[in-house]
Amino acid sequence: MNILVTGGAGYIGSHTCVALLKQGHSVIIADNLSNSKSETVMKIMDIANKEVTFYEIDVTDAEAIDSIFRNYKIDGVIHFAGLKAVGESVDIPLNYYYNNIVSTMVLAKACQKYNVNRFVFSSSATVYGDNKVPFVETMDLLPTTNPYGETKAMSERILTDIAKANPEFSVALLRYFNPVGAHESGLIGEVPNGIPNNLMPYVTKVAKGKLEKLRVFGNDYPTIDGTGVRDYIHVLDLAEGHVAALDNLKIGAHVYNLGTGQGTSVLELVKAFEEANGTEVPYEILERRPGDIASCYADASKAKRELCWTAKRDIISMCRDAWHFEKNYKE
Ligand code: NAD
Ligand code: UFG
Repeated sequence: MNILVTGGAGYIGSHTCVALLKQGHSVIIADNLSNSKSETVMKIMDIANKEVTFYEIDVTDAEAIDSIFRNYKIDGVIHFAGLKAVGESVDIPLNYYYNNIVSTMVLAKACQKYNVNRFVFSSSATVYGDNKVPFVETMDLLPTTNPYGETKAMSERILTDIAKANPEFSVALLRYFNPVGAHESGLIGEVPNGIPNNLMPYVTKVAKGKLEKLRVFGNDYPTIDGTGVRDYIHVLDLAEGHVAALDNLKIGAHVYNLGTGQGTSVLELVKAFEEANGTEVPYEILERRPGDIASCYADASKAKRELCWTAKRDIISMCRDAWHFEKNYKE
């Protein structure tokens, strides 16, 4: 199939492009490179040993998107393009609402016009808010306390309503847990802007000596060791989850958790990283980070049942591959 991958030069998108090419799909990437580099597209082609078509465009640009649909027979869309920094979304909410919602609507409109009925959307476990773990797809969503999370909940709603109105439309709303790791080649991985906000990229920078020590945000949560618990998922498993979602699309809107179902605390992750890589990660305990919840992990059984997909890679390989990428990466 010809798959339009928006945000395909980004972290999760690039790994998914490789997985799609491996499965024999053709890939057209639309990315404005606001948080990625064009070299990544070359690296996708190197890894997969296949060509991809790349357009440096903004997905909120309806005319540019229309011209892609006009020129190619698009069979399906995977929509990764979006702004994703939770803290930044509080400071510049309009950018987040505009970018993340308008891009979804522009794509949905083009799908309607060109009768493209396969859509996969990048949502986030953040839509569950501070719910009871494990998070199940049937739970009522709780407010997310930040504009980023709201853009995900709203996009889910828009796509669900479109599916209700169009009996031929099928959309998978994929709620990712915490993606980490990198392609085993070390060629593509996560490249955060500036000082990382997320745990794994911060840990790899400490291991590399670029940052002095990890700041562990709180050790008084009701968890195994007091530190925050998350469901880390290898980005390669996540990428394969997208191929499975595309292969198993059903009419209507369907929500799937993409997680491992396993919770790992901050200190457990630090220990796994040290064990996997034989490096030390010095850390200090600080106050809780505002907006954080104690625990977040998936009930991953629906994706297993309906998409025939489960995450296969363990926390040790996530740590190993994250470090392999960071070591090779030239800033
Ligand atoms: P990323 O920033 O690495 O990739 C997003 C890509 O989209 C970038 O290449 C960026 O240049 C591009 N982009 C952004 N706005 C665009 C626009 N208007 N037009 C064209 N391109 C645009 O992020 P990622 O980690 O790969 O995340 C991909 C998606 O998954 C995002 O929608 C994100 O919100 C969602 N998500 C990510 C996480 C995570 O922890 N990484 C968790 C849950 C959900
Ligand atoms: N943490 C630290 N020190 C750090 C960074 C994080 O102790 O320097 C802790 C956090 O307090 C939390 C855990 O590590 O307990 C994970 O934090 P991350 O920032 O890596 O991830 P979050 O779970 O806060 O959020 C991520 C993405 C969101 C997404 C969410 C659910 O950033 O966009 O996962 O998928 F919505």
